[in-house]
Parts: sequence; structure tokens; C-alpha cells
Amino acid sequence: MKGKFITVEGTEGVGKTTNIQCIASWLDERGIAYISTREPGGTALGEKIRGLLLDKENTGMAASAELLLMFAARAQHLEEKIIPALEVGTWVLCDRFTDATYAYQGFGRGLNLEHIKRLEALVQGDLHPDFTLILDIDPELGMSRVRARGELDRFESEALEFFDRVRAGYRERASDNPSRYCLVDASSPLAVVQEHIVAALNAFVGGAE
Ligand code: TMP
Repeated sequence: MKGKFITVEGTEGVGKTTNIQCIASWLDERGIAYISTREPGGTALGEKIRGLLLDKENTGMAASAELLLMFAARAQHLEEKIIPALEVGTWVLCDRFTDATYAYQGFGRGLNLEHIKRLEALVQGDLHPDFTLILDIDPELGMSRVRARGELDRFESEALEFFDRVRAGYRERASDNPSRYCLVDASSPLAVVQEHIVAALNAFVGGAE
């Protein structure tokens, strides 16, 4: 792939939007062409699937149905948007990707990680993000920010223990593969968080050149 694939992850209320903006500014400053997108979603079909996934009326959704919907949205996103961009050298900045599936459906819901791995291979082949920022925060702090924003969606309505497991999942993935992941303490002052992110991106392009 000619373009680079950057993803941003973390539990709820971790400050993804603000820090995605920091990465976007870094790309703009370097004149790098990119698209900014999100999961679940990113395409017309994917956004419809997102609606199903986040709708808290869907209380009885089976964990395996949730998993398959995540990968259905992802398959469409890859074919319609991500792969065509990367092929022409456009970078892709994506708010969540498959690390969220391992963290939420694997560690959070307790689904078998080997099953997730098989779906990942089916849907993505060899395509994986080149750089993943994981914003790490105590879920209690993150959830207090989310609650202040207003109504909760189906995931945000989960208990704190669910997000403790999700967080542990992200941390485990980051420590298993430190070259791809940058784990940042998102409870630090914003300027410190963003300094860390910019340093990691500079190291990433330094290493990628
Ligand atoms: P967002 O609110 O950060 O945009 O993400 C929507 C929710 O979807 C969030 O609570 C995390 C969840 N999610 C998963 O559970 N698995 C996934 O694979 C993805 C991409 C998101």
C-alpha cells in the first residue's frame, strides 16, 4: 500500500475527537493527503449498521451478532473507502478499527479471540494499521465525561467493569506489539498528551522513510 493507515483507539470519554484533530493538523502541516473516517461506519451502509449497533433499544443483541455486524461494516469500509485510498497513496486516519473489536467484543464481551482473528483474516487479509494510537484512561474518569455529554448509547450504557476489561485488552495489545502502538496516558494535560502524540508520529515517519 502506498498510503499509511493510522487508527485511534481508547475507551469511552478518552478524548479521541480532540486528539484525532491533533493528528489531522500534523498531516496538514506536512502536506500529506488523507481521509478521516470512523468505525463502525465510514460508508452509507456502515453508518446504517452503526445505527443498529449503538441503538440502546437493541438490548437483546447477541455478542456474536454484534461481532459480525462490526466486521460487516468493516468489510464495506475497506472495499469502498480504505483500500482505494491507500492504493493511490492517500493516508487513512480512522477513529477505531479492529483493535476495538479485540478490546470490546473479545476482552469486554468475552468472545473467543481466535474467532476474532479468523474474521480479521477473512475481512482484511494482510491489511493492518501501520500506526495505532491508544488513549488510555481510567474508565471511571472517561465515563464521567461521557455522562456529562448527555444521553448514553448502547455501549456507553455498559457497567464500569466492562470498560475495565476493554482497557485491559487495549493495554495488552499495546504491550504485545510496541512498534505499532503508541499508548498515551490521556489523563495528562492535553498539551502533554499531544506532545507525546506528535513525537510518536515523527518517530513513525522517521522509521517509515
Ligand atoms: P465511538 O462512539 O467511539 O464512535 O464508537 C462506537 C462504539 O462502538 C464504541 O462504544 C466502541 C464500539 N466498537 C466496538 O465495540 N467494536 C468495534 O470493533 C468498534 C469499531 C467499535
